[in-house]
Amino acid sequence: MTRHWLHGATLLLFTIPPVAWAWWDNGHMLTAEIARQQLTKSQVAVINGLLEEWSDDFPGLCDLVTAAVWPDQLKCANHGAVCPRAVMENIHIFDPWHFDEKPYNPQNLTLPHCADQWLPNPSASFTLTSAITSMGTSNSRFAFNFMLRWVIHLVGDIHQPLHSADGYFDDARLGHLPQGDRGGNLIPVISDCGANNLHFYWDSAACQYLVNWSPHYQDHREALTQNASDLITKYPPSSFGTRYDPEHLKACWTQLQNKSKPSGVFDICTGHGLLLENLC
Ligand SMILES: *[C@@H]1O[C@H](CO)[C@@H](O)[C@H](O)[C@H]1NC(C)=O
Ligand SMILES: *[C@@H]1O[C@H](CO)[C@@H](O)[C@H](O)[C@H]1NC(C)=O
Ligand SMILES: *[C@@H]1O[C@H](CO)[C@@H](O)[C@H](O)[C@H]1NC(C)=O
Repeated sequence: MTRHWLHGATLLLFTIPPVAWAWWDNGHMLTAEIARQQLTKSQVAVINGLLEEWSDDFPGLCDLVTAAVWPDQLKCANHGAVCPRAVMENIHIFDPWHFDEKPYNPQNLTLPHCADQWLPNPSASFTLTSAITSMGTSNSRFAFNFMLRWVIHLVGDIHQPLHSADGYFDDARLGHLPQGDRGGNLIPVISDCGANNLHFYWDSAACQYLVNWSPHYQDHREALTQNASDLITKYPPSSFGTRYDPEHLKACWTQLQNKSKPSGVFDICTGHGLLLENLC
């Protein structure tokens, strides 16, 4: 069975574009478009004005919606469907910023050393919190531009369940993955859209959102705007119940705006000192 799946996945590799390890661009841009629609015109203008300052270096990646894919573009080594630029950055030092690795361990396996410490530096949660601290305390437009791009991107990434969890399994049905499934990357699937593992399948929202950043992205702008509006209508904040708490981060911002000295990079927004002293 395993061999059959892997064989299918190998064949597919020849027919699909390389995919970035993140929501596909459509998912990222959709998340950012949902945010854009909930900001005022003047808020959007301030944000876009800042992002546009990098338009010489990163053309087409400098508004609130397209900047959402910038952190993936940094990883591009080769020109392709998700890597449209002639000049490729091929920078990988930030790769671990894109995900958290909270263990999903339904079989109660003994986890590898330190697997339960899933919010270390680097991780998506750490980066998001660091970004809020930087934006609240730095006077540098560079810092703000850089961190804002990460916030826009990571709010998308951490809403992809397989960017927030690693599965640990060890049986014939789910696979022999006692060292973890790397966010579903090690679980092969066959799909209609070229998503050849469970992680990619989620990244495409089960083959629903397939547009990748390209020079033709503007052709899809109208559909993106409409899809975002539809989702906002379908899922208002109240539909999230207690899982949506707008007050949660407010205290963090208030503290920062009050110029309180952060006592640690990580604890300013979580309310407790976390893990810094016992990193693996
Ligand atoms: C999981 O395993 C540990 C020891 O390995 C045991 O103490 C614990 O009770 C188990 N939990 C469940 C839910 O089976
Ligand atoms: C909009 O949503 C439809 C239906 O889910 C999907 O087929 C289409 O690809 C989406 N387009 C964009 C640009 O999000
Ligand atoms: C702002 O800081 C001052 C001095 O540390 C403190 O007394 C005040 O309560 C703080 N205000 C808020 C809203 O945190």
